[in-house]
Amino acid sequence: MSQELRAVHWTGSSLALIDQTLLPHRTETMDVRDVDTLVDAIQRLVVRGAPAIGAAGAYGVALALLQGEREGWSADEVCAAVARVREARPTAVNLMVCVDRVMTRFDEGLDAVLDEAAAVQREDIEANRAMGAYGADWLVERVGVERPLRILTHCNTGALATAGWGTALGVIRELHARGRLEVVYADETRPLLQGSRLTAWELVQEGIPHYVQADGAAAGTILRGEVDAAIVGADRIAANGDTANKVGTVGVALACADAGIPFLVAAPTTTVDLATKNGEDIHIELRGEDEVLEWSGVRTAPAGSRGHNPAFDVTPGRLVTGLVTERGVLQVSAGELPGERLR
Ligand code: MRU
Repeated sequence: MSQELRAVHWTGSSLALIDQTLLPHRTETMDVRDVDTLVDAIQRLVVRGAPAIGAAGAYGVALALLQGEREGWSADEVCAAVARVREARPTAVNLMVCVDRVMTRFDEGLDAVLDEAAAVQREDIEANRAMGAYGADWLVERVGVERPLRILTHCNTGALATAGWGTALGVIRELHARGRLEVVYADETRPLLQGSRLTAWELVQEGIPHYVQADGAAAGTILRGEVDAAIVGADRIAANGDTANKVGTVGVALACADAGIPFLVAAPTTTVDLATKNGEDIHIELRGEDEVLEWSGVRTAPAGSRGHNPAFDVTPGRLVTGLVTERGVLQVSAGELPGERLR
């Protein structure tokens, strides 16, 4: 993928989102001009990934202001519309953090709001670049083998999931650029296939060798010694290092612990929620049953089955070997806790 490709892009009067529900078969952009459409796009995962929905939420404040102007809303009505954007999904703290940040400029008007949203986007790309370098340095040094590395990842954490470049996938891209990557095992990431549809698409664009594997294959691949380390992103990291990420992540972390290989989380500090003490306090989004009872609109489970569809799970900090942020790497399982080191 070209580094210039942006999941979220302000056109000057509207928000252009790459419609991630259509990938990898169609690359289409959705032009968002009103708050209802933005909330729906965030909830349907047209735009998804914690930093990307943070950036979309940041520009959502501008959309609310513009729509308010067109439709004669009061300031309270604009704020109520912004609150709906802020609450469109509950788990990724970036959405709330970025909306709140931009709202600090609300009283200064549209230009100030747009400046702040652009800063959110620019800083996320810079953070991703820094994480790429820190994470790649750490892996090369700590895994300590001369040959290129075999890395497992879960969900999608690339340019599509961020303002640009990627978090965990940014580290993988950096390893590849340094000639230190042999292959990526990309978990397909049931039920919405962010791994096989989106991560694999980005890896193909980058010419990075990879396998897509069923989520259920991950533990076996790790225990057979076919992987040197796993690296994933995060939606919210509590002060004690407990990490909410796409459902299936905790199984990867457990397998890494058993195999004695590093399990890394790469996330900008906007994903660290120091107000949340531990993972028990993280609100895990429960999505519709049909996502697990159906496949591509066709019912696969028998009538009468109920679906259980948590979108995320929580990996205990004790299983997180390293947390890669734009400030460096914290060895969380060794006691370097975000609540103490990132205040
Ligand atoms: O439901 P999604 O696709 O928004 O979930 C995304 C993830 O869980 C990502 O791993 C996380 O947001 C980090 S993206 C850099």
